[in-house]
Order: sequence, then structure tokens, then C-alpha cells
Amino acid sequence: MSEKIYAAPAEFVTRANVSGMENYRALWQQAADRPEEFWGELAEKELDWFEKFSHVFEWDPPFAKWFAGGKINVSHNCLDRHLTTARKNKVAILWEGEPGDQRMISYQELHRLVCRFANVLKSLGLQTGDRAIVYMPMIPELPVAMLACARLGVTFSVVFGGFSAEALQARIQDLGAKVVITADGGWRRAKEVRLKPAVDEALSDCPTVQHVVVVKRTGSEIAMQPGRDLWWHDLDTNVSDDCPAVPLDSEHPLFVLYTSGTTGKPKGILHTTAGYLLGNHMTMKWVFDIKEEDTYWCSADIGWVTGHSYIVFGPLSVGTTTVMYEGSPDTPAYDRWWRMIEKYRINVLYTSPTAIRALIRQGDKWPESHDLSSLRLLGSVGEPINPAAWEWYHRVIGKGRCPIVDTWWQTETGCIMIAPMPGAVPQKPGSATLPMPGVIPDIIDLEGQPVGDDREGFLIIRRPWPSISRTLWGDPKRYAEQYWQRAPGVYFTGDAARRDSDGYYWVLGRVDDVMNVSGHRLSTMEVESALVRHPAVAEAAVVGKPHEITGQAVCAFVTLKQGDWNHEELGRELRQWVAEKIGAFARPEEIRFSDGLPKTRSGKIMRRLLREIVTSHTVTGDVTTLEDMNVVTKLAAQHDED
Ligand code: WTA
Repeated sequence: MSEKIYAAPAEFVTRANVSGMENYRALWQQAADRPEEFWGELAEKELDWFEKFSHVFEWDPPFAKWFAGGKINVSHNCLDRHLTTARKNKVAILWEGEPGDQRMISYQELHRLVCRFANVLKSLGLQTGDRAIVYMPMIPELPVAMLACARLGVTFSVVFGGFSAEALQARIQDLGAKVVITADGGWRRAKEVRLKPAVDEALSDCPTVQHVVVVKRTGSEIAMQPGRDLWWHDLDTNVSDDCPAVPLDSEHPLFVLYTSGTTGKPKGILHTTAGYLLGNHMTMKWVFDIKEEDTYWCSADIGWVTGHSYIVFGPLSVGTTTVMYEGSPDTPAYDRWWRMIEKYRINVLYTSPTAIRALIRQGDKWPESHDLSSLRLLGSVGEPINPAAWEWYHRVIGKGRCPIVDTWWQTETGCIMIAPMPGAVPQKPGSATLPMPGVIPDIIDLEGQPVGDDREGFLIIRRPWPSISRTLWGDPKRYAEQYWQRAPGVYFTGDAARRDSDGYYWVLGRVDDVMNVSGHRLSTMEVESALVRHPAVAEAAVVGKPHEITGQAVCAFVTLKQGDWNHEELGRELRQWVAEKIGAFARPEEIRFSDGLPKTRSGKIMRRLLREIVTSHTVTGDVTTLEDMNVVTKLAAQHDED
């Protein structure tokens, strides 16, 4: 635990959207005492409505509705409402491709592009309530596609470009998508990441898909299936710039984002319209302290929730300039990010501990050779940030001047839940600090009792907030079980945490079988079920092992079917197999072969024991020998007898 406390410099506090602890506390208290009034007033003041809502909050546990009766459109709030102001010619998206190409798209121009693409979707027969899959590199057409869908009320799901054809297929099928929007490929580490071939493979069994719209990004050779596949630039030639935003119900499904749960099947987290937008809009102001003149950069990929909320919807709703970068931080050299910050005079940087640790490893000379004086605020998300990385970020990147907002939240929460308001809440490295207004967290034990301060337990949230996920796509029962029944009546986050005597929250990590690799959620079961589909594998157990850079790395224990196997070769093959089944980011760092897995008498694999092995290194060596595993199996059996 770090004892150090960092307060923002006086000039930051003076200009902050919320200044001083008292103002933060007053805001939080107001939201806690009169939540409906609090959110109702903000919704009216901060968002643009076609028709005002009649109820702020309806609660049929565990299903929440916010701003029922209202008519609103996210695309209108992100675009149209800025066009009557000086923002119309402000840069909305400041994009840089990995090869160095640039695009600066004003609000007016983004509006035009979105309207045109919405008209394209209409011409393909898409209507309010239909579904679209978006599988794209980090190019401006990606947010254009999302905003065009939102404009029509077409529910979309962005699938991260690193997912395999198989993972893509499962998502297309689950969503019943009519259209897939993609590109030939994108650039990463100076190589092409091809996307269209994966779409072709995925569509071998997706009868709902009628069309594929393809952006030409890399210009590589791809197959186009006549009648089904259409080039974006061809469709864009003959459409109107005019496409009014459809007035949608506040609870209209905006998007589904698939994320790993504790089973092999990914969960389709559903977010709806008004509440999701309000949560993102407010946290842009509260946490990122956005000012009209800011240039703001979130380095996430739009394929994950951070990119949805804090590259696209939050930033555009508040009318800021949002930076978007296509490629990798080390291309052409390790100073790519610092070069961009200097070049565009970026003011706010939001990134992940994994990225910070990877950049620390390259040495201070990279950031030190650039002028980073434009930065005024830094952010972190995705996993706990270790105090050493926090201190480096503060000293070397922020030059001791920039507050750091360590933001805790989840795909399910839609927006930031626990984080410092930087002009109000002093920071302790490693702590996400205090909850946002309207967020009432607590730490409980297995019986559901609060554990009090300074004790570890399960992090829960006591009441619904506007941007909470409404359900799991097509599976409301699983939604209720996963989030609302572990501890009856409260939202169960799946994280362990501790609260200190100042009320600061310290999130420790997942308590379920979900790993966090480079800030990406991955379920152990998902990797296991991929492994056991390989013909050589009899059984597999997967655990996250601590990793210096990525936080956790995937470690798989595998028992093989009878045969004469070359472990080294097979290990390589299995790692590649998982990359093909799920995506490269899921590739196990390590495969350990054994002739048995530790199990309880009822036959349940004791992952806890395996976790201990990879954490405490009680078993050493690259490939676990049979003897070692036998020892563990015996230990497990003994444990089970006790
Ligand atoms: C972890 C990403 C500690 C946590 C927005 C959570 C964090 C999971 C933090 C959600 C943080 C995220 N400190 N842990 N600041 N931010 N986490 O759905 O375990 O991809 O439950 O959402 O990441 O991951 P997800």
C-alpha cells in the first residue's frame, strides 16, 4: 500500500469542472439522497431530447429502465446539436493511421459522413431494430458506422479486429445480424492485419447476413462475393447528405458488446440509449475535466468498451476533439505516442497500465526526447495500476504536474464508476479512489455482510445507475444470475476490493474465472473449450499467471490423449490453435503438459491450486514433469479428504 497522496496543482483546481473535496462530496450526497431528481435534472440539461421523458427511473429488479417515455437519439446528441454552435468547424475526430496518414474531420463533416452512411444502410434495407456487426480496423469509418447505426436505431456490435473468424461467427449468429461492416484490413506493426478473409470464413454459416460492406484501407487483394459484398466507396457515390436522426425510445438497444464471462460462451452485454449516453457525457466532464479547447486522446481500441464510451460516444457528446490512432505504440519506434502528443499538442491522455509498463521498459529516453508540456491530465483503465507504474506515469509523462485518474469500471457498467474527480479528490497511487455521483459501492463477504474498512471482500454496487447494462442479449436469466443473485438485490462486480479509512477503494482483481490479459477480459473456460477441441487434448485447465507487462498471461495445463507426442511441437501447435479459435490475444504464453489435473472428489478441476502453482512458482521448469503433477494431484486429493 502506498502512503503517498497527490493533490492537483492549484492552477488545475482553480479551473476544474469540480473543484475541491467539498464540492465533490456535495454532488455525491445529492445523488445519493435524491437520485431521481439528480439524474432527471442532468438528463434534461445535458442531453438533447425530441420528447421529454415521463419517468426518471423504473425498477423491476433486476431490470432497470431510465428516462422512460423519452425520445432521443445518440447520433443526434453526438453530432447535430453541435452544428448550431462554433463547434461545427471544430475537429471532431483527429485520426492518424499507422503509416503516418492523417485525417481531421470536423463535426460538420462527420455529420455529413454519418448521414451518408446511414442512407447507405437504409438503401440496403436496414431499419430500426435490425442488427449490424462491425469488424474494422481503427479507421474513421468505424465510428462513422457506429454513429450511422445509432442514427437509425440499428443495434450494432463491434467485434475487436483481433478476434478470429470463429469468434466472429459466434457473435454474428448470436446477434442475428443483417449486415457486416468491415475493411480489407488495417495496419499494425507495419504489417497488414487482414479482416475480410475472416469475414468470408465466418459467413460460411450465417444465414441472416445479406450484405457485407467493405472499406478499402490497405488495398490488398480480397475476394468480393457478387451480390453480397459491396465496397463502401461505391455505395457512397450516390447518396444524399441528408438523413434525419430517428427519435428513439430512451431504452432502445444501442449496442451489444460481447465479453468473457465465467463460461465458454461470451455474454452479449446490452446497452441502451439515454442512460448510457448520460453516464458517458457526465464522466467526460467529471473525470476528464473536459474544456472546450482540449484535445483528448484515449488510446484504447474501439473493439472494447473503453473505445465505445471514451473514444466515440462520451467525447463526441461533450463536443471535444477525440484523437484516434490506428496502429501500435512501437511503430516505427517506441516514441510514436510521445511524437503524436507533441505534434497534436494533446492535453488529456487515457491509456492502460499494460501500455504504461511496456513503455517504461523501453526507457525514459523516448518520452524525454519530446515536448509533452501540452499534457494536463492522465488516465488509466483496464486493470489495477501498480504504484511503481503510477509514479513513473506521473513523473516522466506528467512531469509531476498532471493529476492521474485511475478509473475503475466494466463493460457492464457502461461508464466510469470509481475514479477521482481530478480537481477535487487527491490521488493515492494504486487506488481508483472514490465513487462517481449515483454510485454506491460497498465491500461484502460471502454472506453478503459489509466487511467494513481495511478488509478485503467482494465489490458490489447497491443501486442501479443510468448507464448500467440492461440485460444480456437473449439471456435475461443469465443476467439475473450473474449480477444480481450472488448477493441478493445488489450488483455483483466479480472483483475483489478493499476500502481504506479515507473511503478510498483499492480494486484487487477478479474473483471469478476471468483473466485480465493486457486489460482484455478472457475467461479461462473459453480458452479451455478451445483447447479440448484439439484432437490431441484430453483435458485442459487454464489459469492466469502474473506477468510483468500484461498483468496476467494465459497458462494452460493440458493432459493428452494416448500417443507419442512431441511436447515442444505440440505446445507450439496448441498456442497457435487457440489464436485461431479465439484470437491472437488469447494465445497461451505457456502450455504445461501433465498426466492428470488436480481435482476434487466430485471431479471439479481445482484451478485455485493451479493458480497457486503459477503464482508462487512451487513448480518450476518450462514443462511440468509428470511427477510434479502427480505430487499436486496427491496434494489436492489430501486437501479434499480434510
Ligand atoms: C478490471 C474495462 C482495477 C476489473 C473498462 C474489471 C480494473 C474489469 C480497473 C472490467 C481499474 C478495469 N483498476 N481493475 N482502474 N479498470 N479493471 O469489462 O477487474 O474490459 O472487473 O472493462 O477490468 O473489464 P472490461
